[in-house]
Amino acid sequence: MSARFTGRTVLVTGAGSGIGRAVAVAFAAEGASVVLSGRGAAPLEETRALIGAAGGDALVVTADVSRADDVRALVRRAAEHFGRLDVAVNNAGIFRGGAPLADLPAEDWQALLDINVTGVLHCLQAQIAHMRANGGGAIVNVSSNLGAHLRIPNVAGYLTSKAAVSALSRAAALDHIRDGVRINAVSPGASDTTMSLHPGESAADRTARMKEQSPLGRVSSTAEVAAAVLYLASPDAASVVGADLVVDGGAAA
Ligand SMILES: NC(=O)c1ccc[n+]([C@@H]2O[C@H](COP(=O)([O-])OP(=O)(O)OC[C@H]3O[C@@H](n4cnc5c(N)ncnc54)[C@H](OP(=O)(O)O)[C@@H]3O)[C@@H](O)[C@H]2O)c1
Repeated sequence: MSARFTGRTVLVTGAGSGIGRAVAVAFAAEGASVVLSGRGAAPLEETRALIGAAGGDALVVTADVSRADDVRALVRRAAEHFGRLDVAVNNAGIFRGGAPLADLPAEDWQALLDINVTGVLHCLQAQIAHMRANGGGAIVNVSSNLGAHLRIPNVAGYLTSKAAVSALSRAAALDHIRDGVRINAVSPGASDTTMSLHPGESAADRTARMKEQSPLGRVSSTAEVAAAVLYLASPDAASVVGADLVVDGGAAA
């Protein structure tokens, strides 16, 4: 196994479950010290235990990305503890859907914007401020194939929030590459986490549905999404700036 991130500090938001946990574990396996963030401490401690059992090093810092003060404190704590912050993965997000636009509850719309969009903005601002003052870094935002790449009915709020994450990633990349901060996005399709289960659906039901719906015939594994994130954060992607890498089994092809 190569160790592309030895000596590097990596911050992952939403690291207590799903894609974020897989990303954190993958960075640790390649030598990084990892800062695990999310709102709840218990799931983050589980991720820390997984990393520790494999001989890796991780710090848990709770933060709500919709709160700018929380996010500034998170970046400060990461830099204090490990000396600096080299890579950040802005993965925390929520899904709300199931109603046509006219019936979209106002509180769902607001939560999607506050967490998925303003949350990523808060993270980018705090991370870029640190990185440009400390020799640069790389940031990967986790968007979605829904929004900029693909539209389906009854998820207008989520689609809009993720289209914004894709646009924000490209805009930030252009504004800050000359500061030494390299910014990209990964846009997963249906992946092997609870977020891609339809209401009342089991994992076996999802397998059957994806066999019909997906060009590839299955969901992406969280390890496959993590591999794309690690590539974009690595020196192999040194000239990749403002890309939005779709990992969705061909759904948006
Ligand atoms: N799974 C898919 O099929 C899929 C497809 C496309 C895109 N994505 C995107 O991939 C990312 C990860 O999703 P996932 O599937 O791994 O879902 P997940 O297991 O629900 O993970 C989301 C994580 O975000 C954290 N989070 C939510 N709100 C937060 C907040 N306000 N502040 C800080 N952390 C918060 C959650 O932890 P706490 O609740 O403890 O804070 C949770 O650990 C999301 O951005 C999602 O939109 C997923």
